[in-house]
Amino acid sequence: MNRHSARARLRHPRLRTRISPGDTMYRPGPAAYFPVGRSALHAIEEVLALAGSGGVNPILDLPCGHGRVLRWLRSRYPDAVITACDIDRPGVDFCARTFGAEPVYGSERFAETRLPRRYDLVWCGSLLTHLDLAAWREALSLLVDALRPGGVLIASTHGPTALENIRRRHPTRLWGLDQSGGDRLIRAFESGGFGYADYPKRAGYGISLATPSFVEAVLAELPGVDGGRVLERRWADHHDIAYCVKTSEVDTQAGGPLRESVRRPAAKPRRSAPR
Ligand SMILES: C[S@@+](CC[C@H](N)C(=O)[O-])C[C@H]1O[C@@H](n2cnc3c(N)ncnc32)[C@H](O)[C@@H]1O
Repeated sequence: MNRHSARARLRHPRLRTRISPGDTMYRPGPAAYFPVGRSALHAIEEVLALAGSGGVNPILDLPCGHGRVLRWLRSRYPDAVITACDIDRPGVDFCARTFGAEPVYGSERFAETRLPRRYDLVWCGSLLTHLDLAAWREALSLLVDALRPGGVLIASTHGPTALENIRRRHPTRLWGLDQSGGDRLIRAFESGGFGYADYPKRAGYGISLATPSFVEAVLAELPGVDGGRVLERRWADHHDIAYCVKTSEVDTQAGGPLRESVRRPAAKPRRSAPR
């Protein structure tokens, strides 16, 4: 155990600090890994308070990766059923083995992912940040369908802060994109509020950027949800955090509400203060 794991364990005795050898999120080093996971948990708890959410059991972490955030969910909610879903099967297996998560292998096409239950909390960290708008809509449809009435979807997005941070750190190769991809991403973001470019040689997976108002407009299109809001720079001072609350079951075939909400969201939360 290195000193970062030891320190995290000391401060958070319930935290399991074992690292999967396949966890690419660990590559930048251990110093950031645990604080980034903890920051996600703080953002999740802030949203749950704003949304007036009662219980959070069961929980879905999609994509779970190799448990960077799931380990914190497990330490905070030791008795909850937590479903770990990803297309990275070794990651799912690691989360099941190490954190007692319920394993579900995801599908590249979101519409083909089968989830075993409905959730009070769906956490989607660092997925929309890598998808184009059509894939955002497919992913959001799956994730909202997976909520129980009253359940909360929380997803991270790249907004103006992420762009500012990356420009400062890697001004010439934004997120490892090639020059034309980076230019396309910025142009579309600045002109229409949303931009996307593939990573070099990875069709369909890259970097997206979205203004908070664009994200809120996308959430507002989702049937059967309410309270679509964005809290800026809430995850590790880098990702924005978008959330919405499921108010009713919607028959996506017929397009109409089937069942009204059992729990209404709390009064409209304030927008984050500009910093
Ligand atoms: C940047 S990683 C984030 C992982 C994790 N949420 C974290 O914060 O450490 C993005 C993850 O999305 C997963 N992913 C990509 N497409 C997916 C899909 N269609 N269904 C489920 N997971 C997917 C990848 O396998 C990868 O684990």
